[in-house]
Amino acid sequence: MAKLKRGEVLILATIGVVVVGLMARNVIRLRSEREPDRGIPFYSTAAPTLTRQAGDLYRSENCRQCHSLWTVRSAFESVPAPALDGIGSLRSEEWFYRYFSAPNPQSILPSRLKLEYRMPSLAGLPDTERRALAQYMASLKVKDWYLESTRIAEYEKLTGKAYSDSHAEK
Ligand code: HEC
Repeated sequence: MAKLKRGEVLILATIGVVVVGLMARNVIRLRSEREPDRGIPFYSTAAPTLTRQAGDLYRSENCRQCHSLWTVRSAFESVPAPALDGIGSLRSEEWFYRYFSAPNPQSILPSRLKLEYRMPSLAGLPDTERRALAQYMASLKVKDWYLESTRIAEYEKLTGKAYSDSHAEK
């Protein structure tokens, strides 16, 4: 191999550094385009007043006895109720209001569970409280990249069946 002069070595080294740098930059850019965001997928669009009001109701009505929200589960939770994180991306405020106002919520959303584990009727609550809860539920959003996973988890909780089984046959 011919001996290189010092100047030539320097030039080659510089070219090498630039090439490797450009390749690394492209790899990083490709990654970030494919996975734009893999943090916590759940968020709420509710104003602080609504968050406080709905949060009080959520506690006083014992919703967390059966549901999980912000992935916090009650130590006593034993009911396979759907998680409420991201539920506002699956259903509308009007739907929640109708559901909470129904004397028999199972006429809107059938249950697979024993009576004592089913969603209780909130029809006895004052209208303003049902509205606040509906508004807050509708504010519980999930980012697009996690929407399908949320939908699958909800389906499996509601039916007790695997999503893939029921959708593979069609
Ligand atoms: C005794 C357990 C229990 C309690 C308490 C309870 N829920 Fe439920 N909830 C359920 C179950 C179980 C379901 C699924 C439908 C069914 O089986 O009746 C459900 C369904 C729901 C749904 C519809 C979920 C979906 O997949 O669309 C919402 C919204 C909801 N509950 C909100 C609440 C709120 C808000 C409270 C408190 C005010 C509450 N729940 C209290 C058990 C409960």
